[in-house]
Amino acid sequence: MRKIIINGGRPLNGTVKVSGAKNSALPILASTLLLSGKASITNVPLLNDVITMMRVLRVLGLRVEYSEPNTMNVWINGKVRHVAPYELVTKMRASFFIIGPILARMGLAKVPLPGGCAIGFRPVNYYIKGLEALGAKIEMEHGFVIAKASKLKGAPIYLDFPSVGATESLMMAATLADGDTVIENSAKEPEIIDLANFLNKCGAKISGAGTQSITIKGVSSLRAADYRVIPDRIEAGTFMVAAAITGGDVLVENISPEHISSIVTKLQEAGVSIVMGKNSARVTAPQGINAVDIKTLPYPGFPTDMQPQLTSMLSLAKGTSVITESIFENRFMHVQELKRMGADIQIEGHSIIIEGVPHLSGAPVRTSDLRAGAALILAGLAAEGETLIDDMDRFIDRGYEKILSKLERLGADAKEVK
Ligand code: EPZ
Repeated sequence: MRKIIINGGRPLNGTVKVSGAKNSALPILASTLLLSGKASITNVPLLNDVITMMRVLRVLGLRVEYSEPNTMNVWINGKVRHVAPYELVTKMRASFFIIGPILARMGLAKVPLPGGCAIGFRPVNYYIKGLEALGAKIEMEHGFVIAKASKLKGAPIYLDFPSVGATESLMMAATLADGDTVIENSAKEPEIIDLANFLNKCGAKISGAGTQSITIKGVSSLRAADYRVIPDRIEAGTFMVAAAITGGDVLVENISPEHISSIVTKLQEAGVSIVMGKNSARVTAPQGINAVDIKTLPYPGFPTDMQPQLTSMLSLAKGTSVITESIFENRFMHVQELKRMGADIQIEGHSIIIEGVPHLSGAPVRTSDLRAGAALILAGLAAEGETLIDDMDRFIDRGYEKILSKLERLGADAKEVK
């Protein structure tokens, strides 16, 4: 079990390059199940979750080869299987979306229910309802969802909630259906647009990605194309907060400014100075951080994946901040650990009330999920003294490529201990 030791209190200064988007690379890799020929996907972050997806695709019968830098070559070489491996899919809850491409390709899919994780129960009812709308027969058996459809038929689908994974899964399934599908109240995240752009490059006919209504005209087959994954907007936001919380001055490069406007706006409201470049953001910490209120919302609202990081930053703000988490039902696991470091936070249902304190003090803390881990790193960078963060491989390595070397290059005293 890998741990991180951080000696805090050092301002971060310098330049950091953001990696490719984890939450775009994962569905794009899953969509290669729909293709014939070899796809070469670049700017893929080498993360535990991406490695897990590589292993899932290999178990399903695909050839997947990684080559430096950040390139994944994927092709189908022989028979594709329809049963997704139990221990791999349940390890990565948000990989359930693979049911769409497996079903569209094979006419049959057997995928384990994701089950709960630290931030919530991760139900899949919107996926099931959507696949049934496309003509699939669905059964549940021994922890697996079994979907059958010799040929999916295009249909109108309405999502009760703009679920990212359900939008991606149903969009992938609909590309090879007979006829047209319209997904109403679809998620609008940039990762949805990235997936649609990749599939359209492979011959799909998807329009409206990024809006609340996506139309997919079914085609008979898709041919692999090469593609470069967009930058990771959450990694970008995380490093911007790292500059703000440590009193530093950091140039965050390789970003898509249009994907982080809600994060930039909120940080500027908190007094952080941010100068946007074409693909960069120059972040300079204020003398003191202002308290702000935040409510997490589906894109383009403030992203839930940045909520833990802002909790850390606002723990040191002047005044009282209120953060409301409207996406997941249990995404405050980092609060207890921040309180161990001296933060003054109360949980009230789906909101937390943060009374800013003058400083945090380093302590041994536990991570519960990927973004909570990032929040504890940020708190450790700002805290006085030493913070020991456990379970790095289980969580932090899942979402932040080479995070320690990136932080050290910015002047952080952060080391890995076995
Ligand atoms: C994606 O998860 C991301 N993961 C998450 O990032 C992100 O937090 C989330 O979208 C919201 O933006 C990937 O893209 C791999 P949802 P996903 O379906 O698709 C409920 C990270 O840290 N729901 O939009 O699983 C669900 O329980 C991860 O990188 C249903 O009720 O999120 C949640 O409360 C964490 N029924 C809400 O919708 C369903 O059928 C949003 O979930 C599906 C979802």
